[in-house]
Amino acid sequence: MACLFKKRFLVMGLSAMLALPLQAEEPSQNQGPDRNSAQAHSPADSREIIWLSPSERATVLAEMRQFVVASQAILQGVLDENWQTVEDAAREVGVRQMRQTPPGLRDKLPEGFMRLGPKVHRGFENIADEASGLADKTVVLQKLADLQQHCISCHASWQFKARP
Ligand code: HEC
Repeated sequence: MACLFKKRFLVMGLSAMLALPLQAEEPSQNQGPDRNSAQAHSPADSREIIWLSPSERATVLAEMRQFVVASQAILQGVLDENWQTVEDAAREVGVRQMRQTPPGLRDKLPEGFMRLGPKVHRGFENIADEASGLADKTVVLQKLADLQQHCISCHASWQFKARP
């Protein structure tokens, strides 16, 4: 029973992945208001909406993009054994960045969101400490993998929308 479900899930996943490039290559088959491919094939977005002002949304999204920049620099720094790069990149998005969140914006963020955010910043701060201390490659990679679980959980639950 469990096995059957898994198989079905896999097939659904595969067809979803295959469907996208096909639609992109053959737009003529998906024209017209009733055949919007995104609506026809994606499940409804059930992530909870967090309403922000346009500039607040821009601020948090910029912070998000910095997380990707930092994560990439950390991985490259570990590969190159350049511990200063790892420390600087991680410190940049550590607790200092967390403290910079404007209070007005913080008030709009739900409790669950406010629990996950600091975990990510503290995770990066821990990476910075490890880089300036023992600098163990495996420890740094494990910390990055662990903190990315929080990125995943948060992204699964919330989305931002802007209104003035
Ligand atoms: C506490 C919640 C939370 C955490 C933790 C979090 N994010 Fe996000 N992130 C969001 C939300 C909400 C959005 C907006 C999604 C949407 O509106 O569709 C977002 C958007 C993004 C975007 C898109 C940025 C853009 O310009 O559109 C990136 C990239 C991103 N996050 C990376 C990360 C990475 C990497 C991590 C972990 C290191 C992370 N985020 C941690 C909530 C979070």
